[in-house]
Amino acid sequence: METTELRTNTMPRIGDQAPDFEAITTKGKIKLSDYAKDKWLVMFSHPADFTPVCTTEMSGFATRKKEFDTLDTELLGLSIDSVHAHLGWVSNVKEKTGVYFDFPIIADIDMKVSKLYGMLQPNESETAAVRAVFFIGPTKKIRLIMYYPLNVGRNMNEILRALEALQTSDKYKVAIPLDWKKGDKVIVPPPKTLEEMEARMKDKSIELVDFYLAKKELNYN
Ligand code: BEZ
Repeated sequence: METTELRTNTMPRIGDQAPDFEAITTKGKIKLSDYAKDKWLVMFSHPADFTPVCTTEMSGFATRKKEFDTLDTELLGLSIDSVHAHLGWVSNVKEKTGVYFDFPIIADIDMKVSKLYGMLQPNESETAAVRAVFFIGPTKKIRLIMYYPLNVGRNMNEILRALEALQTSDKYKVAIPLDWKKGDKVIVPPPKTLEEMEARMKDKSIELVDFYLAKKELNYN
């Protein structure tokens, strides 16, 4: 008997189906399950409109939106503010800095979505969402989660890097090492049988440290 009420006390986890919801946004009503089946979605919360760190972060998403487009990824913001506050903030930032938040921002005034996604972490704040980022894959599975506190802004390079790493891992069936960026070598998944291990030890096409650690170049074409 899983209900929305019960889920308010749970945190979604990597590998879970992203809980569905309907919400009012700066671009009208949306439903998570209506998002295109072949696209990724990066959904992120910020604590409050008209605050400095949040303004830098939202501007970061806006100015790098083309990079998300290239990665077939939609953006969806959220805070526990009204749609009027969102509209005022979006137009104020555009007027003051020229940056336009051209993606929907959920007005989660009843905290429904924030609670469903564990964005409301009461020991940090009872009224504002923490800085969460949910990477949701094309089948609406949660693939990666970041949570940052109220007083520390996120890193846009890392958000884009993590997204590209997930997509690269899926496409080429490889694992992604520390600090990887596009063009770097990737990890060949470890062998599962003695036969595979012996073949691996003789494979001249990979950079082998030992049977459990091998890297290779990717041919992106
Ligand atoms: C900020 O975005 O600057 C901020 C928002 C809420 C709490 C602290 C900082």
